[in-house]
Amino acid sequence: MLPSVVAHRGASAHAAEHTLAAYDLALAQGADALECDVRLTRDGHLVCVHDRRIDRTTNGRGVVSALSLAELAMLDYGGEVGVLTLDALLGLTADHGTRLFVETKHPVRYGGLVEAKLVALLARHGMAAPADKDTSPIVVMSFSTLAVRRVRAAAPGLPTVLLLSQLWPTLRDGSLPPWADHTGPGIGLLRRDPDYVARAADHGHATYCWTVDDPADVELCAGIGVRWLATNAPAATRAVLAR
Ligand code: G3P
Ligand code: CA
Repeated sequence: MLPSVVAHRGASAHAAEHTLAAYDLALAQGADALECDVRLTRDGHLVCVHDRRIDRTTNGRGVVSALSLAELAMLDYGGEVGVLTLDALLGLTADHGTRLFVETKHPVRYGGLVEAKLVALLARHGMAAPADKDTSPIVVMSFSTLAVRRVRAAAPGLPTVLLLSQLWPTLRDGSLPPWADHTGPGIGLLRRDPDYVARAADHGHATYCWTVDDPADVELCAGIGVRWLATNAPAATRAVLAR
């Protein structure tokens, strides 16, 4: 089976990341699913922003957690005014029946609040307790073991992905801790150790690989059985998969 194409921060190779325009473009390009990062504003709203600071992606300056939603709403995000809230993005994915991979950032700074707010928001959208993990509209991911464990404890029905930059010695055999359903290696890890996908599958875990834009990497992922492939360029990635 070919990997599903997950639009990383939207179609972020061709539109400003984490904007509605980027997500609309991703859907127009045939993405199977979308990815976003979430952070908390000073006044407790979940917003889709990757960096700790807004300097790279807006015409403003400062740290997301030190700014209010109203302050973030006044800025320009590469042609779109106003920060994209997770609430709004959930509305878009629900309208389109598209799965969203939500990555939580910096659990230590937020002291668990981001995971609690995330589960509460998903509950308001009727997405916190899916009947079946395989068809859940939401998958929660993090590099932080603490964050993934918190989400599992608060919402056991939500599927989780543990993101990995390196393969920890204890996970080399393809196993995962009990609170992680699937594994999320970076493409660099799979270039070095392509058999990891099969070892994870032997333990019942599917693989989500990030961030895959190079055609050779797309072909590698398809050949070794990656289930989800995060890409900044959904149309180009889909074209490689169709070859
Ligand atoms: O999809 C996971 C990937 O997004 C992790 O890296 O830095 O782009 O959030 P980053
Ligand atoms: Ca991310």
